[in-house]
Amino acid sequence: MSAAWAFQRATDGGGAWDDFLNALNAFYRRALTLPPQASTIARDIDGLHYFEITIMFAAAGLIAVVALYFVVRYRRRPGRDPTPRIVAPHWFEMVLYAGLLGLFVLFWVIGFRQYIDLSAPPDSAVDVYVTAKQWMWEFAYPEGPASAGVLYVPAGRPVRLHLTSRDVIHSFFVPDFRIKRDAVPGMYTTAWFQANAPGTHQILCTEMCGVGHSQMLARVVVLRPADFETFLLRRAPAATPTSGRDATPNAPPARGAPLAVIGRAAAARHGCLGCHSIDGTRRTGPSWLGLFGSTQLMADGERIRVTPAYITESMMDPQRRIVAGYPPVMPSFMGQISPAETAAIIEYMRSLADGIPDAEATRP
Ligand code: CUA
Repeated sequence: MSAAWAFQRATDGGGAWDDFLNALNAFYRRALTLPPQASTIARDIDGLHYFEITIMFAAAGLIAVVALYFVVRYRRRPGRDPTPRIVAPHWFEMVLYAGLLGLFVLFWVIGFRQYIDLSAPPDSAVDVYVTAKQWMWEFAYPEGPASAGVLYVPAGRPVRLHLTSRDVIHSFFVPDFRIKRDAVPGMYTTAWFQANAPGTHQILCTEMCGVGHSQMLARVVVLRPADFETFLLRRAPAATPTSGRDATPNAPPARGAPLAVIGRAAAARHGCLGCHSIDGTRRTGPSWLGLFGSTQLMADGERIRVTPAYITESMMDPQRRIVAGYPPVMPSFMGQISPAETAAIIEYMRSLADGIPDAEATRP
């Protein structure tokens, strides 16, 4: 994680300067009654907050003091004329404006760097599919487990969330992690975080989504990495296939089966495989073999990485960005493929990312 500014780099157990910054952080956090800083980025986000609020307070305080001084110093007294009109020199105003502009740019640069960090999950991240609906949160893991109301994540590892909604716009907010992202029907948005230590944190919905909005709560339970592995194993079916292609063919996927297995069945059921081959053969649409994660040239010349967000867009709004060389004939699956199936199909495509054909599925 890059951080723009020395404050954010301070960690526990550093020198006197770090101790000072830690004390400053503790003071501000208490003064502003902020929740715990439970993710790696929380302190960076708060740092910018402290910085801005300090400058605003200092500026407001300075203006108040100067105004008070003027009120007293230049008050109208009996027997005196009103003060003559004073015009500030041009250079003074320019310096003032340049200073304000500089501050604005500084805030922007720090904030933009944080935004970049927040928008770029590490490739090593654990993936979780988050589905919002009135009025609950559901979580599904590529390995198979699913849970409602409780998001289990490992401590000390980046976690990437793919968020979508079944009905209206919701917003996923974990105050302790300082992350917030909208969950929008028909598309996947991404958010990521890395929790510092095991513990439990509140999840809130921050988009007015109906009468149950205020009760649309859930928890994040941060587990020790070993416990998280146990969770994945315990919640997955007994014979745990590691990917879609290791599973028994043709049998309907069991509840709790790996998402890729469910995704293969869903893709067959919805007819995806009629136009998209899974062995690299060119059909009406691009083959799914090796497609996930690759960069594709679009018809309009844009280059796009095939991410869960793009795949979802292609299912829900296919004409928007078409891979170059293919006809724009795909129908929209908006409202036909559920978020759970969308997540599963994405995971199936991910299982084909390495370019090795899915032997189980192509067997007669
Ligand atoms: Cu969902 Cu508010």
